[in-house]
Amino acid sequence: MSKRITVAIDGPAGAGKSTLARRIADKLGYLYIDTGAMYRAVGLWAVRANVALSDMHRLEQLANEARIEFVPGSGGVLLNGEDVTEAIRAPEIAEAASKVSMVPAVRRAMVAKQREIGARASVVMEGRDIGSVVFPDATVKIFLDARPEVRVERRAGESSLPPEIIARQISERDQRDRTRPESPLVQAPDAVYVDTTGLSVDDVEAALLKIIRDRTSNGKERTQ
Ligand code: DC
Repeated sequence: MSKRITVAIDGPAGAGKSTLARRIADKLGYLYIDTGAMYRAVGLWAVRANVALSDMHRLEQLANEARIEFVPGSGGVLLNGEDVTEAIRAPEIAEAASKVSMVPAVRRAMVAKQREIGARASVVMEGRDIGSVVFPDATVKIFLDARPEVRVERRAGESSLPPEIIARQISERDQRDRTRPESPLVQAPDAVYVDTTGLSVDDVEAALLKIIRDRTSNGKERTQ
């Protein structure tokens, strides 16, 4: 039986992680795991349950109790059995996710779930700390980035909010994600940096598949 492959894709909001990670997982037949969706699900539950985003103890409880499932192939996300795929994409939930993701105990709970998933199957997992913390021994690590104005433009295309509001939200979220004491967004030293500014999705996909194939035997673990 061939060995499991772990592809870790990290980077800031709007760098193209979700689009690319999903496409690559499809191409290689691996599981696609969007770890941001997991923090969003905890954030959504906290907002709905009126839990203050500063209440670390309650947030820890929610994170431990949350049953987060990915519907294979569809990109769907279930929280405690409910389809929250759309609900977690609301801008206020992105904000809540960024705040709950600062809580060390919430991160511990999510990282444990992520490692469990990665232990069972070959995965393309995307987030902020996958190559640095969740899977320091990942088969392939990629750090996707793009110029801030391009990242804002991409997010603006997916939202009805004015671009200046999106620019502010992204910049505040990036700042929080990069400077939090617990598992901040950093490029792992052995990650390959890919700047997607000015590149089409097809171009980036081809570049990433080449990186992955160079480090594996055409998507399978090298035998030697
Ligand atoms: O990728 P995203 O925008 O859906 O992520 C939502 C928030 O979750 C983001 O502000 C940072 C946080 N996050 C994290 O801290 N660690 C991860 N592995 C993934 C996301």
